[in-house]
Amino acid sequence: MRKLLCLYIIALWAGAQPAIATRQVVLSTTVPRTQPITCPGYIASNVSKTGDGFVAELILAGPPCALYGMDIKRLKLDVRFDTKNRLHVHIKDADGQQFQIPDNVVSLDSGHGVRNASSNLRFDHLHDDLSGFGFRVLRGDQVIFDTVGHPLIFEDQYIEVTSNLPADANIYGMGESPDFLRRNPANTIKTLWNRGSPDLFQQNVYGSHSIYMELRDSQFHGAYLHNSHGMDIVLANSTIQYRVLGGTADFYFFGGPSALDVIDQYTELVGRPSRIPYWALGFHNCRYGYKSVYEVNDVIANYSKANIPLEVAWTDIDYMDRTRDFTFDPVNFPLAEMQKQLAYLHGRGQKMVLITDPAILYNSSYEVYARGHEQDVFIKNPDGSEFIGQVWPGYTVFPDWFALNTSSWWSGELRRYFDQLPIDGMWIDMNEAASFCTGSCGTGKPAGSTPPYPWTLDPQPPHRILDVNNTFLVPPYAIHNQEVELSDLTIETTAKHANGVSEYHVHNLYGHMESKATHDFLVNYRPNKRPFILSRSTFAGSGALVSHWTGDNSATWKDLHISIASAFDFGIFGIPMVGADICGFFGNTTEELCARWIELGAFYPFSRVHSALAYAPQEIYRWKTVAEAGRRALSVRYALLPYFYTSYQRSVENGWPVARPLLFEFSHVPAVVDNDRQLLVGDSILVSPVLVEGATSVSAFFPAGLWYDWYDYSVIKGTNNNVSLSAPLEHVNVHVRGGKIVPTQEPAMTTTDSRKNDFNLIIASDEHGAATGELYVDDGETFDTAARWVQFSYADKSLSIGQRSGQFKISQPLSKLVLLGVAGVSNVVVNGSSVHANFKAANGSTVITGLNIDLNVKSVITLK
Ligand code: GLC
Repeated sequence: MRKLLCLYIIALWAGAQPAIATRQVVLSTTVPRTQPITCPGYIASNVSKTGDGFVAELILAGPPCALYGMDIKRLKLDVRFDTKNRLHVHIKDADGQQFQIPDNVVSLDSGHGVRNASSNLRFDHLHDDLSGFGFRVLRGDQVIFDTVGHPLIFEDQYIEVTSNLPADANIYGMGESPDFLRRNPANTIKTLWNRGSPDLFQQNVYGSHSIYMELRDSQFHGAYLHNSHGMDIVLANSTIQYRVLGGTADFYFFGGPSALDVIDQYTELVGRPSRIPYWALGFHNCRYGYKSVYEVNDVIANYSKANIPLEVAWTDIDYMDRTRDFTFDPVNFPLAEMQKQLAYLHGRGQKMVLITDPAILYNSSYEVYARGHEQDVFIKNPDGSEFIGQVWPGYTVFPDWFALNTSSWWSGELRRYFDQLPIDGMWIDMNEAASFCTGSCGTGKPAGSTPPYPWTLDPQPPHRILDVNNTFLVPPYAIHNQEVELSDLTIETTAKHANGVSEYHVHNLYGHMESKATHDFLVNYRPNKRPFILSRSTFAGSGALVSHWTGDNSATWKDLHISIASAFDFGIFGIPMVGADICGFFGNTTEELCARWIELGAFYPFSRVHSALAYAPQEIYRWKTVAEAGRRALSVRYALLPYFYTSYQRSVENGWPVARPLLFEFSHVPAVVDNDRQLLVGDSILVSPVLVEGATSVSAFFPAGLWYDWYDYSVIKGTNNNVSLSAPLEHVNVHVRGGKIVPTQEPAMTTTDSRKNDFNLIIASDEHGAATGELYVDDGETFDTAARWVQFSYADKSLSIGQRSGQFKISQPLSKLVLLGVAGVSNVVVNGSSVHANFKAANGSTVITGLNIDLNVKSVITLK
């Protein structure tokens, strides 16, 4: 049924009338996991120490059990203390035949290697006669990973590793999968098999990230399995179990102990989030279904008429000539008009981003294909012919990122395209890679044949009968991919890459590799300019290359809610620049839902409204209430831009996510373990959106401490309790955390204009009248920019401005202080001299304006 829904939706996208026939569900050879495992496990021997760990041999301890493949008899165990808080445990086949992710595809940090004694983690290997070799990872006395009692199964197409968990464990991460934040420890299967599908609840979708974090006794630790194969990660019976379709058991463990520490340690390994241009933090508008460049011109003008800050105008595949990459529809989106639009946008400090898909029309008169064919860059069938799928333009081929010439061919095509229209950023979509057939659409399609546009799907016969003996098509263990076959709606798993590797092993890397090729092009094409790339499919480490949106959600209240957890997940995955399609992609949104969504979406790190073809338009100026909600929420976002940017720089330097659950800051508060209804921006701004239809109030959780209302400065004394907040339709509740100092600038209609305004500081004092904060500033666009970190600390009515590092010259002064929770101030002394200022009292707080303080030097500001 889900399959049919997907096909139906795909056909709707394409504007086609699908012929839906009943499909017969084939093959799930997965043995129910209730049966006892009879596999013999392994025996460890020949343990020998290395400088920073040790190695051992593992020998199969009995007759092969051949559960889902051929047992590998000799394994090698390699244990290394990479850093003080990172332990690498790699169990691989002794002969090195199993596929492993090449270093140049995902390059991992190797750490410096530390001696066992100076690591915060410990490794124990143990043996029991029932299950054989098992290992434990400990942090101090706490066992954080424990396979003892569960036999290791290591077969050519199936690896099983099981670790004990406490009852009711708090597990986060593992996906991509639209779900609540806390994974149900009793019944979760997260399947990693990249899939271009609508965002259906708890299913596998576009990306693969095996990292999970566990919260135990107020502390976090984490584990990452470095493996590109399809897999299920199962939580049940107080265990976490990995069921992997090949490769090796290549684990990394992170000692935390805070959530931010785990993400820091993980992103140190897989790559820190990329630096983004400042403008990417502005508000973005998109829609699938704009009929012409003139319609988009109107949209741009309407935003400005409505006084809503539009930073980036996006156009979907509509701009292309018959949806072919790197072309422009000569009638509705002629290049000359697109160039005019770009010039117009740039003239106003706005930007343009356009979509590109990896699938290339299979037609020799299409030059992009002809050049690629000539350079032999496309994925092949096992017989050496080009693999044919079907995407928007009709029958297509797919770039093989492993082939020698692909990167230079891709760069060449992008160069031609950018030379014509120098857009500001790229949107790379459908890169799971999505295709509308089950595997091949048929070798032997006459070259150049393509269904007439707009095309209809080939009639769907009953699902094909498979060669069940081909274990790449039908692996003995069936992961819980939510399609009938692994090859459904994607490239056939038997297809061949230029390095001889079958798609089966590397399917999950496709989007990541496209991201890399695209990123490489942009940094070459515009040296020293930070690229902005939005990718649908991602893998571990993609955050170093791209940003992400959560794909094809629906205009429902549940999707509004789930979008918060999805943003948190991507924070854990090291891709902090993330957001969902505001107001919902599929389905007609409603005025109320759209208003509530922009109120939340204004605080996603990546804030973009987007909707699908055939549904009612939803630019946020279209309804009075939505426009007003948008203006208000976006004015808070734009005021907070310096703070968003500072938080994002924390991501770049430490991996720390911008969008955080309360749990990451208040891990000792049990009530927040599953809180995914509120969102912290950085560590200081708490957003409590309405997620329920018809509601005009919201029950929000406030951790112990002071929380100041953004708008009227009133204070809530949090006692780890829920507080009912009034939330009329156009209002979103935002609170500043006591003890924090937040830099802001007056909001303008673009990020560039906002950046020209004076700085303000919101000083939210805690119960002791103290607060701290920081500000990061650079030019917002180049790599080799000077930068500056400024530190703020406030206590005893005295604000110190300190310089942590950097030479960037901040040209705007600090002109306003909002002293939350501090009344009765009427005098300002800057570095010993009294200065003139204006004072306004409000709700127990004081607003001081008219200052002119240089943020490039140390200062002490005394308030009396
Ligand atoms: C995919 C994308 C969606 C886009 C559509 C047409 O469904 O996820 O965002 O609008 O393709 O390009």
